[in-house]
Amino acid sequence: MEVKNIAILTSGGDCQGMNTTLNIVVRIATMKGLNVYGVKQGYKGLYDSSFVKLNNANVENISSLGGTILKTARFPEFKENAIVEKCAKNLQDHNIDALIVIGGDGSFKGAKALMNKGVNVIAIPGTIDNDLRYTDKCLGFDTAVNNASNYVQNIKQTMSALDRGVIIEVMGRYCGDIALYTAAATACDILIVPEKPTGEDEFVAKVKESIAINKRPPVIVIAEKLYDVKHITERLNQETNIEFKYSVVGYVQRGGAPSVYDKILAMQFGVRAVELITKGIFNKAIGIKGNNIFEINIDDALHCEYNYNYELLNLFYLLNTKA
Ligand code: ADP
Ligand code: F6P
Repeated sequence: MEVKNIAILTSGGDCQGMNTTLNIVVRIATMKGLNVYGVKQGYKGLYDSSFVKLNNANVENISSLGGTILKTARFPEFKENAIVEKCAKNLQDHNIDALIVIGGDGSFKGAKALMNKGVNVIAIPGTIDNDLRYTDKCLGFDTAVNNASNYVQNIKQTMSALDRGVIIEVMGRYCGDIALYTAAATACDILIVPEKPTGEDEFVAKVKESIAINKRPPVIVIAEKLYDVKHITERLNQETNIEFKYSVVGYVQRGGAPSVYDKILAMQFGVRAVELITKGIFNKAIGIKGNNIFEINIDDALHCEYNYNYELLNLFYLLNTKA
């Protein structure tokens, strides 16, 4: 089939590298003589038929910007069959031959729903959580970890100055990758991730053990959604002779310029997406393994084996074991 018109959207939580990908896709696709349409606000915009024609001028100077110029949205209605059908029809009415979706696992489920309605889709992994298991890295993850690490380094200095302990909560939804890489990169004392569930009593015992071994207040990184951070900080204040504070890193992880790694990844993902489309290859998810860019069926990407980096987690534990 001859492809003339393609559309692209960003969906779910924004991440660094989305704009870089938009820039690359528009430039490469234009070079190949394709028309590119941006869909505003992810699947919500698809439902509202919110299409904008994109050209090189629209995407000039956006590569280093966080967020997404197309905007994104959480649109839970997209789980409904009738809504997906309307979106597929909107694409057809606009003569769109293929759609590129950039997002996380929820967005990939949406891409699969569209694929099942006959839409030609290519999915690019973009989420700071890094929770799409078929690929080593998702766009945004590297930048989010760098942002979180800078934040932790600053906090470590002020906590050390006042001899305080601290619990730092990072994002990741149900995935402990941001917590793991941040804690490892900043040499924290204790790390708690969902992949190694730790009850509250066990957590408190670990903190007491760390204080006894290191003879100083610990710096603790925890993944979000595991504890009530305020409550557990109060408990540590009561049960140890150390003053504890807590800090929730929050949205600073998701904002700001993409790292060099994420920009290069965006470039590679964007180029491969357009290449596949021009070859008439659809319904693929693009990923990276080692240094290799590859594609697999979207369905397989969603049912991939769990590949948490237990090696790095064990390395972290080893470095925090009493000599
Ligand atoms: P992310 O893509 O970053 O994981 P979300 O989980 O919020 O973010 O998913 C983004 C969007 O994908 C949702 O707002 C919804 O429109 C769509 N989506 C999520 N889950 C499904 C699903 N099971 N079926 C169809 N669409 C879905
Ligand atoms: O999926 C990215 C993410 O930042 C998660 O780490 C976090 O749990 C969630 O989005 C926050 O979502 P929202 O921006 O809708 O509050």
